[in-house]
Amino acid sequence: MAIELTQKPTILTGDRTTGPLHLGHYVGSLRNRVALQHTHRQFLLLADAQALTDNAHNPERVRRNIVEVALDYLAVGIDPTVTTICVQSCLPALAELSQLYLNFVTVARLERNPTIKDEIQARDFGRDIPAGFLCYPVAQAADITGFKATLVPVGEDQAPLIEQTNEIVRRLNRQIGRQVLLEATALIPRVGRLPGVDGKAKMSKSQGNAIPLSASAEEIAAAVRRMYTDPNHLRASDPGTVEGNVVFTYLDAFDDDREAVEDLKAQYRRGGLGDMALKRRLETILQVLLAPIRERRQALARQSSDVLDILREGTRRARGKTQATLDELRDGLGLFAFRE
Ligand code: TRP
Repeated sequence: MAIELTQKPTILTGDRTTGPLHLGHYVGSLRNRVALQHTHRQFLLLADAQALTDNAHNPERVRRNIVEVALDYLAVGIDPTVTTICVQSCLPALAELSQLYLNFVTVARLERNPTIKDEIQARDFGRDIPAGFLCYPVAQAADITGFKATLVPVGEDQAPLIEQTNEIVRRLNRQIGRQVLLEATALIPRVGRLPGVDGKAKMSKSQGNAIPLSASAEEIAAAVRRMYTDPNHLRASDPGTVEGNVVFTYLDAFDDDREAVEDLKAQYRRGGLGDMALKRRLETILQVLLAPIRERRQALARQSSDVLDILREGTRRARGKTQATLDELRDGLGLFAFRE
């Protein structure tokens, strides 16, 4: 019991391995993960199996990006001596948990999940939705509960998935008659979702409106230059609109001097503050943030066998943890135990 009380709470979160991570991931979740890794027991999942649910035709892309995302983690300051980084598809217990959980969720409930609805629309599946895609929230519930995580740092688009996870948790615990699985809380950042540089609601690589964490100094400069502001703010002396102005949204997310940002907003609204000056401030902040990340990433990429060692060791540790949860659950459900 004493051990229980002193144990750190567990974090599990992850990313699909479909491409390198960008500033949206940084604001949405990476920043929280770096901050929390010393006070929590943290597992990060390279979600290659989830990535396959809409990339079955392109497994090479999914495989290649395992290392790219791992490099992003390490470059932003994830410390592999305190955070366990692991590869989803190499953890068979998660697949077994998913299979069990699928019986505790209805197809109608899956189709109602707002995140899934949005994603299905964005992907133009039409009537050809891969079954694995529709069911990935169940696999994500397996990810979270398999590690007995109680905290999940994610962007706000993931909130419905945590809700669905907790429904599954309650159903299984009720079926078993005791609390084997734990409910989890989503940790969603204060600033909400970071828009793309073009002002579109979501920053995403496929939309071409993202700033990757590995962006060069020139790419950062170019992205800020083309950033959407107030299209009616033609002269510096004109009054301008702050709402929906991407430069201000980014300053809210990255500028630590909150008071200065509020002053700038007031000045912009009054007139007398030009887009150029505003963008210069943001560009400096982003350059200072991203330069060390980029440099660390380049250095780590030269030692890719070290990165693979980190993933191998992390996956080994995660295998024990997730297998223990599966065993407990099988036992709770009274499944037959010829396993060896
Ligand atoms: N759905 C997440 C994303 O698209 C990735 C993910 C997979 C995840 N498993 C998870 C996030 C478990 C949090 C917890 O980026």
